[in-house]
Amino acid sequence: MRIKSIKLNNFRNYETFSFEFSKEGCIIVGKNGIGKTNLLEAITYFAYGKSILNSRDNELVRFNEKFFRISALFENHQVDNSFAISYQNVKSIKVNDMWVKKISELYQYLQIIYFSPDDINIIINTPKNRRSFLDLSIYKVFWGYIEIMKMYQNVLVQRNALFKTDYHKAEKNAWDEQLASMGAEIIDYRLKFLERFAPIFQKTYETISGNSEKIEIEYISQFKFDHKHIKRDFLNELKKKEDREKFLQRTIVGPHLDDLLIKINGNPVIMYASQGQKRSIVIALKIALAEMIYKSTSSFPILLFDDTLAELDKDRSRNLIELLAKNHQIFIATPNKEHYTHFNLPILNLEELIDENKNKVMQDTQIETLEKELENGGFEEEPQMPEAE
Ligand SMILES: Nc1ncnc2c1ncn2[C@@H]1O[C@H](COP(=O)(O)OP(=O)(O)OP(=O)(O)O)[C@@H](O)[C@H]1O
Ligand SMILES: [Mg+2]
Repeated sequence: MRIKSIKLNNFRNYETFSFEFSKEGCIIVGKNGIGKTNLLEAITYFAYGKSILNSRDNELVRFNEKFFRISALFENHQVDNSFAISYQNVKSIKVNDMWVKKISELYQYLQIIYFSPDDINIIINTPKNRRSFLDLSIYKVFWGYIEIMKMYQNVLVQRNALFKTDYHKAEKNAWDEQLASMGAEIIDYRLKFLERFAPIFQKTYETISGNSEKIEIEYISQFKFDHKHIKRDFLNELKKKEDREKFLQRTIVGPHLDDLLIKINGNPVIMYASQGQKRSIVIALKIALAEMIYKSTSSFPILLFDDTLAELDKDRSRNLIELLAKNHQIFIATPNKEHYTHFNLPILNLEELIDENKNKVMQDTQIETLEKELENGGFEEEPQMPEAE
């Protein structure tokens, strides 16, 4: 899969900007604050239906403007697909001139992986970061997962509300039953995913590091379960925790609180891995995801590195390039192009390009298209679990 061209209007610091990309990708060079991350954010928007930096849509609108629009042409298996996103209070997303109304529909089209400097949080920060990595990864591989997550989230919100009332036992039992049955399905999806993911992750890490440090990734649940009876064991745990839940007025058991444990040579990476090892591990996590996606869709995801390779030693980054360059379109954003001289990619000088785009304005036909798109706004994003830790 690759992106061929992009057009931006009023997106972040870009007024009117267009660019055609080469097949292999490029190194996007420019000083701090010029708009490198913003450009990567625009490319990734199509894959997730929202900002990968978790910004709200109104924050993406250029200061003092009312709307933003991004359009792009992607090629997959020799077929071109056009995508457009426009936003003014509501957003509309169009693929090949057809409206897309739900994130689950969008996930099936584009495979793009963004490597952020903040990815290190997957390892060092709270379980929420790891769950979020896991869930987003599963959305990309098992498309049915998002629907079950949505249902679980609804049940969770209503069950939490129940604890604030004088409920009847039968009422709670009904919610327990639903929570456990959907929760068991979520855990089952996650285990299925990890079973396939773990060996790929191990192999990827070995290739990057050039040695055979053993990397493991384990699912950590709030309760002990037998894989064949997750629902039964979940229900038992809910019974045990009833008094505590009543006191706290929220659900304290379930996949919305679970975690991943990553170990290197048997020890948790959070405590024992070096800075460079941690960086290699998070890169390996995402490259392993790219391979999982390739296995299930037969297309190679586009990879966007937001200056995330600079910390790797020369051997590690050379290993990485050998692993990726043949198949993937790769973008690397950096203020220091000398860090990447060993990458055989064209250089895109963003400052020059922004200058060239300076006097461009939107054509009347483009404004008409935008107006039509805004009339057809409405898009349902992925579920957000209530904060409960
Ligand atoms: N909604 C917006 N409207 C206008 N400008 C914005 C908007 N949001 C962010 N910016 C500007 O975009 C610039 C940041 O761009 P970006 O993060 O892409 O820089 P960068 O090239 O990645 O820099 P670095 O090398 O430091 O990572 C900032 O100057 C910021 O003020
Ligand atoms: Mg940046």
